Amino acid sequence: MKFYIATDHAGYALKEFTKAYVSSLGHEVVDLGPDSDARVDYPDFAKKCADAVIADEGSFGILICGTGIGISIAANKVAGIRAALCHDAYTASATRAHNDANILCFGERVVGQGVVESMIDAFCATEFEGGRHAGRVDKIEACSLGANLG
Ligand code: RB5
Repeated sequence: MKFYIATDHAGYALKEFTKAYVSSLGHEVVDLGPDSDARVDYPDFAKKCADAVIADEGSFGILICGTGIGISIAANKVAGIRAALCHDAYTASATRAHNDANILCFGERVVGQGVVESMIDAFCATEFEGGRHAGRVDKIEACSLGANLG
């Protein structure tokens, strides 16, 4: 799998750990910044990662801020992005299976390194189930296009 990863300053330290873990599993990781823990605005890095995932079909993203909340909200403003704020292996697996999530988000102030490893493992091991979930995912996209869902 190929991952684009980005954070804000509050997720910077966990980015270094996460990159090393994802690489150790044999996946490709592209670091979109920031390059230090100097203060930045999380929407800037959410957008960089979201745009990269959309431009590179089949790729995934990882976004980290202090809580994971702001950076996931921002990423989800980009059409085609399904950025999931996860807290454990269950949510990381379920969001691949049910939501076809293409960006995994979490908070450096919320989860520890062991939980990060278990979320990455679960996210990578789980395929989208399709079926009854496919129509719901289509409706997510329709929402972002302003469609009337009826
Ligand atoms: C930065 O202090 C913090 O607000 C940010 O990392 C994130 O938690 C926002 O949702």
